[in-house]
Amino acid sequence: MRSAGPRVHSLNTIFVVNGPNLNMLGKREPGIYGGKTLEQIGEDCQAAGKRLGLGVEFRQSNHEGTLVDWIQEAGDKARGLVINPGAYGHTSIALHDAIRSVAPLPVAEVHLSNIHAREAFRHKTLTAPVVVGVICGFGPFGYTLALEALAARL
Ligand code: DQA
Repeated sequence: MRSAGPRVHSLNTIFVVNGPNLNMLGKREPGIYGGKTLEQIGEDCQAAGKRLGLGVEFRQSNHEGTLVDWIQEAGDKARGLVINPGAYGHTSIALHDAIRSVAPLPVAEVHLSNIHAREAFRHKTLTAPVVVGVICGFGPFGYTLALEALAARL
């Protein structure tokens, strides 16, 4: 008989975690980020989750430590993590370490904008080397793509 893998997931849930200033979507630089609110993106994620047979736990915080807490929580409770780390992706060793600490939880990094087509300080993220993959430049649709990509791995 086969034994269970090293990580036993009680829930069929993907955490979708959003970092600083993403609560401002809809009114924040719509020329870059589009007109959808974060609430609407959350609804898109719930719809994608339903289609994929996955629960979606959708959250946002402006606080780095809270994001660390949620990554750790995802390590205990989720089957995968989608994260838009916002600006902390460019600066946060703490987020990098948190993602490493929940390995082998599959993590997908999302950015609404094409960070490579913007200022040089956005071209690199400290989180990218420790996630499965990065999706950027497709606006809110990137979240759906990330959920599909994680679902395909499960
Ligand atoms: C962002 C890109 C980041 O550079 C920026 O700091 C954000 C949003 C995006 O979704 O395009 O806050 O993560």
